[in-house]
Amino acid sequence: MSSHGAPIPMTSRPCGPLKGEARVPGDKSISHRSLILGALCVGETEITGLLEGQDVLDTAKAMRAFGAEVTDHGGGNWSVHGVGVGGFAEPEQVIDCGNSGTGVRLIMGAMATSPIAATFTGDASLNGRPMARVTDPLALFGTQAFGRAGGRLPMTIQGAADPVPVTYTVPVPSAQVKSAVLLAGLNAPGKTVVIEAEATRDHTERMLEGFGAEITVEETDEGRVITLTGQPELKPQKIDVPRDPSSAAFPVCAALIVPGSDVLVPGIGLNPTRAGLYTTLREMGADLTYENERTEGGEPVADLRARFSPGMKGIEVPPERAASMIDEYPVLSVVAAFAQGETVMRGVKELRVKESDRIDAMAVGLRANGITVDEGPDWWTVTGLGHGNVPGGATCASHLDHRIAMSFLILGMAAQKPVSVDDGGPIATSFPIFEPLMSELGAHLVRDNA
Ligand code: S3P
Repeated sequence: MSSHGAPIPMTSRPCGPLKGEARVPGDKSISHRSLILGALCVGETEITGLLEGQDVLDTAKAMRAFGAEVTDHGGGNWSVHGVGVGGFAEPEQVIDCGNSGTGVRLIMGAMATSPIAATFTGDASLNGRPMARVTDPLALFGTQAFGRAGGRLPMTIQGAADPVPVTYTVPVPSAQVKSAVLLAGLNAPGKTVVIEAEATRDHTERMLEGFGAEITVEETDEGRVITLTGQPELKPQKIDVPRDPSSAAFPVCAALIVPGSDVLVPGIGLNPTRAGLYTTLREMGADLTYENERTEGGEPVADLRARFSPGMKGIEVPPERAASMIDEYPVLSVVAAFAQGETVMRGVKELRVKESDRIDAMAVGLRANGITVDEGPDWWTVTGLGHGNVPGGATCASHLDHRIAMSFLILGMAAQKPVSVDDGGPIATSFPIFEPLMSELGAHLVRDNA
């Protein structure tokens, strides 16, 4: 089932060269944070290039439920009239975050130190995901959580009336957990300190600084130590959301494996905490260049040019790179199937608790399409067959996971036989224009029940 309605079975047929420009939508992580931080300022934050995917629309709706005025001006232009740090009102209805782990975890953090209660739910995928990783550190502020067994949604959060600041070492590499603690720390007096052994995406830190919070980041032997001074007055901002490197991954990877392709993907955010896939692809021998490198809104940005790369080789992806490409392993595994030799991916346990168990979902679907995959609890390998030799021909389950659905559709573009997914509906959570954008480049994508 798709997250919002009946399943949308889709098929991707082998296609000719992909050519042209792929203008992918705004960054999902930055879009969520723009709405949430905008809601925590007094005054009006203006956002351009917001991702209008279902995940972000659900966060916009949630911010309204907490009292912010969120307005869609059309064409990706939005404004948020915020209520200030500590100004959230108690929502009258259950907050439905749909498919979005980022949405629910960050919003829980943002409301955790206000004396209000809120009940959160989501779709079948989100309601199966672990929330204790967020509610455990929030409890240190004085926040209470009442959820289902195993810390699952639906869950009611009772915010702390007299929050205390906390020092917390994040036990798993998770930007969502780090961000939830920092957002909770905003309304606690004194200094909240978050320590992460492995660097994860740092948009929350960068944006908090941009919104005028006092925040410092130190690299130490223990890892990154982030110190936030609570109860700042955040200042509304003008935010131009860069295009999403995680969405850019799909046209880029498709161009690398479809013969004759040459695709330009302009204006992609290449924050080093996000760009691991592109480093990996270049190490595999991809013809992938960065053009027109620049800085926009404090984030490094470039135009990516990807051309068909028949000579790619399998590599061992360094485990310390995992956090910077965590959402890109599914599509990397597709590229790996077209490379020569084995691609080894280690240190990727977190893939098992995403929108789906992404190692399992990809392994089952790749095997059904004739590719050898081996896996363990926190690693997997894909044995590449080389360009032109990937059979395809199977239907894969997308498990309510947008990135699984898109990855298998990319596989179908360069396999010998078409590849289908049981439900392309979840693609709308992060990349609502995936079908027209890929079709415009030359992909053959069809909805099977249309
Ligand atoms: C995100 C963090 C990552 C990522 C997710 C978006 C964020 O999750 O997988 O798609 O915006 O903070 P974790 O932080 O749980 O690894």
